[in-house]
Amino acid sequence: MTDKTLFPQIGGLIHGCDYNPEQWLDRPDILKEDIRMMRKAGINCVTLGVFSWAAYEPRQGEFHFDWLLREMDELYENGVYTVLATPTGARPAWLDRAYPEAMRVNRDGSRNLHGLRHNHCPTSPAFRERAEELIRRLAKEVRGHPGLILWHISNELGGECFCPLCREKFREYLRRRFDNDIEKLNRAWWTAFWSHTYGDFDEIDPPMAHGESSIMGLNLAWREFTSWNMGEYIRFERELLNRVTPGVPVTTNFMRLYGTLDYQDLSKNLDVVSWDSYPDYHNDRETLARTAEGVAFDHAVMRGMKRDMPFLLMESTPSLVNWHSCNKLKRPGVHRLSSLQAVACGADSVQYFQWRKGRGSYEQYHGAVVDHLGTDDTRVFREVAEVGELLKKLRPVTGSVLEARAAVLFDWSNRWAVADLPGLGKECKKYEDVCRAQYACLRRLGVETDVVSPLAGLDRYALVAAPMLYLLKPGTARRLTEYVRGGGRLVMTYLAGYVDETALCFLGGFPGDGLRELFGVCSEEIDTLYPSDRNRAVFSDGEEFEIRDLCEVLRVSDAETLAVYGDDFYAGTPVVTRKRTGRGEAWYAAARIEDRGMERIYRRCLEDAGVELRPMPEGIEYHQRRGVRGTFGFYLNHTDAPQQAPAVSGGRDLLSGAELQDTVRLEPYGAAVVEENLNGGEPVEKALTGFSDKGERAGNFR
Ligand code: GLA
Ligand code: ZN
Repeated sequence: MTDKTLFPQIGGLIHGCDYNPEQWLDRPDILKEDIRMMRKAGINCVTLGVFSWAAYEPRQGEFHFDWLLREMDELYENGVYTVLATPTGARPAWLDRAYPEAMRVNRDGSRNLHGLRHNHCPTSPAFRERAEELIRRLAKEVRGHPGLILWHISNELGGECFCPLCREKFREYLRRRFDNDIEKLNRAWWTAFWSHTYGDFDEIDPPMAHGESSIMGLNLAWREFTSWNMGEYIRFERELLNRVTPGVPVTTNFMRLYGTLDYQDLSKNLDVVSWDSYPDYHNDRETLARTAEGVAFDHAVMRGMKRDMPFLLMESTPSLVNWHSCNKLKRPGVHRLSSLQAVACGADSVQYFQWRKGRGSYEQYHGAVVDHLGTDDTRVFREVAEVGELLKKLRPVTGSVLEARAAVLFDWSNRWAVADLPGLGKECKKYEDVCRAQYACLRRLGVETDVVSPLAGLDRYALVAAPMLYLLKPGTARRLTEYVRGGGRLVMTYLAGYVDETALCFLGGFPGDGLRELFGVCSEEIDTLYPSDRNRAVFSDGEEFEIRDLCEVLRVSDAETLAVYGDDFYAGTPVVTRKRTGRGEAWYAAARIEDRGMERIYRRCLEDAGVELRPMPEGIEYHQRRGVRGTFGFYLNHTDAPQQAPAVSGGRDLLSGAELQDTVRLEPYGAAVVEENLNGGEPVEKALTGFSDKGERAGNFR
């Protein structure tokens, strides 16, 4: 096992925040006070410069970096490191006036005016020239600064641009993808339908609001292009940064399961994955535990992009946001709990948006560590400072990772194709919800679970769940087959393997691309139920589970039937099947079976595979991180009542200092982090000396 510490110079977990001193340059008293209060809150890192273009370059060609350097120096002298953003998330007014062609064009063809943020065309040469000049100067200014630990490219990249340049670039992208052969594209997109055959790549336009949107292959290709183009933009910034500051790693902050960018693909351009988490805690739909379960899934998606290394929580709010439909305060203790959950799920940081509330403009009421009141005796400040203390106690956890035995496959192109699938029911596709539900089932059973791309290596998992994998990228079917042959247990559900990477249906039976043989079944029809309709999955021992929304009628050639439909004209026909291949098993669940039914299937697979299950009482979440400094068991109580959990192992609770044996007692919203006496990791005190004294600066990036 090697140390996966990202930033040895910090010597522990990051406790940080977005900090916008450029909004307070006329208040040196406040800037000074900020540093004092940061020390008090245990802040050891800030993200600077996220929206600083106008402060760096108030007029084209006139640059001011003194304020930044002053801040970085001052912060560093006070033990606060810097994540430095490139300021391309928003543009100054002069730029939009001088280069209106760099503003984004909407789906309806209208060009935006100056304003908001993320409002530039990622393709525009004018924009790139201005960005390049500024980024290069900025990087030169901070090159070698001991406080600089990480570049943060732009901010929450996203959106689409339909400008003439992007449209032309889309055509180039298609030419490459289809080997400059328009007939190949026509066949892949089935354009003979409605006489939409293209004679030339130049005839193709993206799916504009008032244009072509009936070609599924086109819609999908546009989404993939938009994501690819953003990746190309990230590489543009990244290469600039790498040239001037080689060795400084690069990230950009992701937004949960953001719809228009394929994060799994974009993460290949980053050294470390980071994301911004803003759940609507205490909402009126669900319990806090349920909300937290969703957040655990989100963390698993982020962790799954670069397994075997920590990720970063780049932003979260210490209290509330200003953009939920109802902006409720985090109840006392919930900030601590959500912060520890991020660490439990593999983050090596807890960071906030933002340090201090701005006085005006759109985010004047967004939560921050320091309120308009301006003091360090508020409830929120105290809770943030408490998190700072706890993170110090968790220093040995730094650089450790989770080792999952199960995985849920999740894929962006599949998301897009399912959403665009012209059929089934308007409300019943729910791909993301179904993936979340499978993750939650596995967590409830007590197995650590990753969420990964179907193209990730699967050998490490005893069980792989592949819900609704409608689109199969080239190579996916082969990998899944090899996984099963090698001894894996694969559980695939309805809507599996209908289309290839261009959204063209496989012929000869679903699941296609050879998976029909793997499962020994073929889906002959798919039935969509009305929301009030139900069916049942009846197992051979009589146990029954409810079915909703989608039911496939199967033809079984070569598999055991484990459950049959209970109702309707397909009553008695197979709904759950299994085919053994070598040491592995390929399970097929042909309908949307309620969670308890899926749990029955997963439990069976995990037990047969000999995986140790660690189920926790309702409302308790458990994760284990392992690293060179030990094995750490995180217990999180997402309920407002005291709870007890069975201890996975005895050991010392790093938070309270108490020695625990069989039971972990948790306060309401409480947590424990047990240094488990499992793998004979080095004693914590000794291991801690291993951080940075060797002048080690490199970190562990991929
Ligand atoms: C995002 C942005 C921040 C801020 C927060 C508010 O995460 O990156 O700049 O706007 O949202 O929640
Ligand atoms: Zn554009």
